[in-house]
Order: sequence, then C-alpha cells, then structure tokens
Amino acid sequence: MSISFHQEERAFRLDTPGSTYLIALADQPGFLGHMYYGRRIPDTAMRHLLRLDPAGPPFQDNGDQLNFLGDLPTEYPGCGLGDYRESCLRVETEEGFRACNLTYRSHAIHAGKPALPGLPATRGGQEDCSTLELICADEALELEVHLYYTAYEELDAICRSARIVNRGSRPVKLTAALSACLDMDNRDFDLITLHGSWAYERMIQRRRLGWGTQGVCSQRGISSHSGQPFLALAEHDANQEHGQVYAMNLVYSGNFLAQAEMTQQEYLRAVIGIHPEGFGWKLDPGGSFQTPEAVLVYSGHGLEGMTHTFHDLYRNHLIREPWRNRPRPSLVNNWEATYFDFDTEKLLDIARTAAGRGIEMLVLDDGWFGCRDTDDNSLGDWFVNEKKLPGGLKYLADQINALGMKFGLWVEPEMVSPNSDLYRAHPDYALQIPGRKPMEARHQLVLDISRPEVRDCVYAQLKAALSSANIEYVKWDMNRSLTDVASFCLEADRQGELFHRYVLGVYELQERLLADFPGLLLENCCSGGGRFDPGMLYYSPQIWTSDNTDAVDRLRIQEGTALIYPLSSMGAHVAACPSHTNGRVTPFATRGLVSLPGCFGYELDLTKLTEEELDMIPGQLENYRKYGPVFHGGDYYRLASYGENGEYDALMSVSKDKRTAVLDYVHVMSRQRRRSVLLPLRGLDEETLYRSSETGEVRSGAGWMYGGMVMPCMTGDSTGKLIVLEAV
Ligand code: DGJ
Repeated sequence: MSISFHQEERAFRLDTPGSTYLIALADQPGFLGHMYYGRRIPDTAMRHLLRLDPAGPPFQDNGDQLNFLGDLPTEYPGCGLGDYRESCLRVETEEGFRACNLTYRSHAIHAGKPALPGLPATRGGQEDCSTLELICADEALELEVHLYYTAYEELDAICRSARIVNRGSRPVKLTAALSACLDMDNRDFDLITLHGSWAYERMIQRRRLGWGTQGVCSQRGISSHSGQPFLALAEHDANQEHGQVYAMNLVYSGNFLAQAEMTQQEYLRAVIGIHPEGFGWKLDPGGSFQTPEAVLVYSGHGLEGMTHTFHDLYRNHLIREPWRNRPRPSLVNNWEATYFDFDTEKLLDIARTAAGRGIEMLVLDDGWFGCRDTDDNSLGDWFVNEKKLPGGLKYLADQINALGMKFGLWVEPEMVSPNSDLYRAHPDYALQIPGRKPMEARHQLVLDISRPEVRDCVYAQLKAALSSANIEYVKWDMNRSLTDVASFCLEADRQGELFHRYVLGVYELQERLLADFPGLLLENCCSGGGRFDPGMLYYSPQIWTSDNTDAVDRLRIQEGTALIYPLSSMGAHVAACPSHTNGRVTPFATRGLVSLPGCFGYELDLTKLTEEELDMIPGQLENYRKYGPVFHGGDYYRLASYGENGEYDALMSVSKDKRTAVLDYVHVMSRQRRRSVLLPLRGLDEETLYRSSETGEVRSGAGWMYGGMVMPCMTGDSTGKLIVLEAV
C-alpha cells in the first residue's frame, strides 16, 4: 500500500512511482501541515519544511499566532483566523460570523477509492490505488471535514476531495468549499493555464509567476471556452522533457477557480475547486457537502511527463466501459453539410456516398425535431419533424443501417426555446429571476435542470426518441452560458446552491441515459469545446473539441487540449472548405492529417466533393483504422508547435509496446529555408531498429531520437505528411 502513517514522525506519507506527498500533524493544536510534495524521496522526517522553528514562534506563544497561520503550509485552509491567503473552506453561521479552522481528529487508510456520490471522479480498485481519509474538525462550529487523498500505484497522480459534514445542531452556510490546496515555496515557477474563447479554445498561456493572485476561472455555469479547470506550475526552465511540473485539474463541469498566489514571503499557494463567487451551500444539522475531485499530477520529467500521467489516468481510470479503449467509429456529421436544410433523401445521399467509401456512421445533427428549420424554436420538443423525416427516426436509421452504417443523433436536453410547446406549457421550467425577463442567447433559455421534474420531463422525451430507432451514438450539445440563475424551487437561502445543483442535474441525466442505453457512444459538446473537462469525460469518452473546424486553427486548439486530455477524447472532423469558421482554404489531405489523431470524422457535404477528394477517403479511413489505436492508446509527444514557431507542427504517438510510432507533420506556412527541418523524435526504444514509411531508412531508436529525422523542405502552405516508424 502506498499510503502510511508514521507515528514517530506524526506524519502521513503517500507514494506514487515518482512522487512523495508528506503531511504533518503539528503538535499543537493539531493543524495539518503540508510538508512536501515532489520527486519521490525515502525520508518522512521532513518537519523542518514547515518552518515552525526557528523562523516563527510556535503557535502556543500567543504573542504571534497570526504570523504562524499566515505562513504555515497547510492542507485545507479555513478563513477569518489569520491565514490571509485564498481559503479552501469559508463558512458563515446564522449570526453572520465568518471564521473556521480545521484541526486533526482521526484518520483511516482504505484500499481502493470510494466513489463520490453524484459526482464524476476517477476510479480505482484495491490493486490500483489506496486512499487516505483525514478527519478534521472545527470544534467551535462542530463542522467535520473529511479530506480524501487517493494515491495511484502506477501513476504519479494524487486525487483529492473533501466532504464537509455539519455535526452541530444549527445550520451553517458554506460560502467556499474548494477541492484542493497546494502550499509550497516558489521555485522560480511559471504558471501554465489554458484560456480561450468560442472557436478558439484551450490556448496555452505560460507566464512567470508574480506576486499576488493569478489564474483562470469560470463563472458561466459551464467549465467554459474561456478557461480550463487546470493549472500547472512548471520550473522556469522546464520544457517538454525536463524539469519539475505540478499540475491540478478539476473533475467538474461548472464554475471553477484555478488560482496560484505568491505571498509576501514568497510562499506559493495553488488552489482549485468550485468558484466561490455565486456559491453558497446551506448545511442543515447532519447535512454534508461533497466537493468535486481535484487531480494533482507531479512530473519530474517536464510537461511530457505530466501529459502522459493525465492521459493514462483518464484513459484507464476515468473514461468508462465499453468505450474505454475501444476504437471509435469514423463518422460523417451533417451540420456543416446542410445545417437545418435537410430531409431524409438528402441525408441518405450523404450516407450512400459515405458508405461507399467506408465511413462507419452518420450523425444527424440539429434540426430533426419540433418544427426546427432555424435556431429560434423547438428546443424542448424532442419529437421528430415528420415533414423533414417521414417515417421518423426509425425509417431513416433503418435505411442507414441497411447501408451497413451506424446511426447517431444530436440533442440539446438542457435548453428550451421560448417558442416551444414545452415552454408554453411550463414557462417556470426555465431559469429566471422573478420580475426580470430572462436573457436569451441563441434565442434559447436554460432549463432548471436542478429540478427532478424538469429532468424527468426532458428525459422521458429523450428516451422515447432514442428508443424509437437503432441509435448507437448521441451528441449531447449545450449552447449557452447560464444567466438568471434562480430557481422557483429553492428557498431564498439556498439560491446559492443552484449553479452546483445544475451541474449535478446534468450528471444525473447523463448517468440515467447511459444506464438505459448501456452500449451508447456519447459525445459531449458545448458550442464546440465549452465544456471539455474531466467531468464530462467521465460520461462521454469523446467530446467535440471546437466549432472551429479550420485545419490550421485546429492545430493550436488540439495542442492545448492534448496537454491534458488523451487524443482519444477529441472529436476531430475533416470539414467543409473554404472553412466555415474563417474562410481559409486547406487541402483535403491536410484536413485529414489534422483530424487523424482524434476521433476521426467528416463534417461536410460528401456529395459535393470532387472525385479526387472522394478517392482520398478510403486511404484516410485506412490510416485511422491502422494508426488510430496508436494515437489513442499510445504515448503522445509534442515535437513542434505551430503556435510557437509559426511555421510547422509535429506530434507523434508511440505504441505502449514501442513497436510502432506515428508522426503527424503539418507544414503550415512556407518560408524560404536554406535547411530542412530537423525533428529529434522521442519515446522510441533506443536499441530497437525502426523503418520509416517515408524513406524506407532503418535506424535505431537512438538514431531517430538523438540524430533526429530530417523533414525535407516543403513548398506551399498547409501541406503535411504522416510518417510511420515500424520496428523491424
Ligand atoms: C453547436 C455545436 O458545436 C455544433 O457542432 C452543432 O451541433 C450546433 N451546435 C448545432 O446547433
């Protein structure tokens, strides 16, 4: 077991293959001190790192309790009593008093990992991991806090969460309940976050850590296009291969805060959890609150080490069966092909062309229900539009199945159009503040998914639609941020619970869907990649990465996404050209190359392609069939970034047995070059000989890695190559 309590040192240690995490019980009055997190060390007696002596007076010396708490590296900081950094736990009593501070009560060490009720979280059996449960309390408030730490046996990941229980006789309100805190000395860190906007998600930002607070957050009710629930602290000279990196990622799909703070004493505090803004959770006597899970990853081997740990953790312990490691079907989606303008014949035309080239599934996107020919109506009316689709979904799905293809369907269950039967019957089902007209976005309102009767009503319709035909895939969309966040069913002092209750409602709905349709392949989507987070990945093994389907822009979006999330989670399609996003023209072959590492598909009118383009499809699909498993299941290496060099992009994946490596190279912008590009490869076995599919050359892994691969000069913009190295 990788977790132990050391009585003599009054310390807990958690070990993963490459990292150690040490927690100290401070003698008086039982504070939980954070001693160490980093490269694996054999020592447990590391109390000196708490700086209790001689730098500051001990706590019981009443002369200076403030300096003690203000600097103490701690595990789960409270508020109002001298720790002026960001708190994990903020509490307000009925009288309006705001202070809390936790001290140790007891602990337990469990084999495996308990599930988090109602929340997505990584999984692990007794052979995979063990969990430390630290039970602490604020004695004055009679508030008990259970801190959970799961250490994985094979991965440098520690998953944390907290459960807060009111053991007193009066209600208290939690005004912040974050998931994890990491206190440490600043080691010349850079802060890495992923920011973005609609159609430009997950741009990598790396900046020097400065004094004060910095980070990324969402208050939109979704994890959002504008920020990822993620941060990494990387030593300033850390790069892909070298240097120490500490990362945090929140398994959650709503409002979040991911923040680093450098204090006056140059201590560093990183926190992650539900954003306290707009949050207030009333805990009645006996009531409890479970925070989402935070994943902490330590890498002593640069960003690549961090990425590999996240990819392995999410592929093996988050994404669920049966799709965990199963190849994902290639598909054609009709959105950019037809938008709302389709009927059965048009869809079958596309399907026939697709089937003839070997595409495995047709996905019918928005516009099949109610009377939806434009985006200003019918959300909430999940019955088929027989004018467009006579014979309903069944007729269409049967025809598509008869072509040897699967059939998939788009839905947007969390929304309602004011112009819909559902809204006319139940206007109170939409989030709204009495006395205010709710804000529309894309002509739609958000359903109060926190209410069980609203979920039941939507779900009953969905279930009927999905049961009416052989539907093997669902794209679950969500096309706006939350506003007017008020519920008719919550008392005044519980309205602050609504953001979180909304997210719990979404999780409950997706859980229900997967229980009723166990083999279903679910793909989440949120105006593209507005809810691309580990919470959603727990339900859907793949997520639509971005509404931006331009191949060049996608390089940066996919690079940022792959920093944390496995390539198998990214929906990536060859889309119409000129790009509907930015008008750029890129060759069909290059669009294929850019999409190949993800969950591959097409998003254009196949019937309008040239013969030459159509002829490329079987080859692209053959590459996906052969090398998709290497991209999806192997170790990913970022060799070159177009975002950084402005010229070319290169990623490679190496199969876990190191017998096959695939290199996806895109030469984006031509410039006059006297020398060809040299790409030192990575991740190969030094002694194995590999043959290049491009030149037939055979070289050792060491030769390819330390000598490098020469990419011949390419002319023209947006060209590229797929190069395969097979062990001989
Ligand atoms: C937004 C999605 O990201 C698109 O792919 C498409 O499904 C539209 N919504 C449909 O309204």
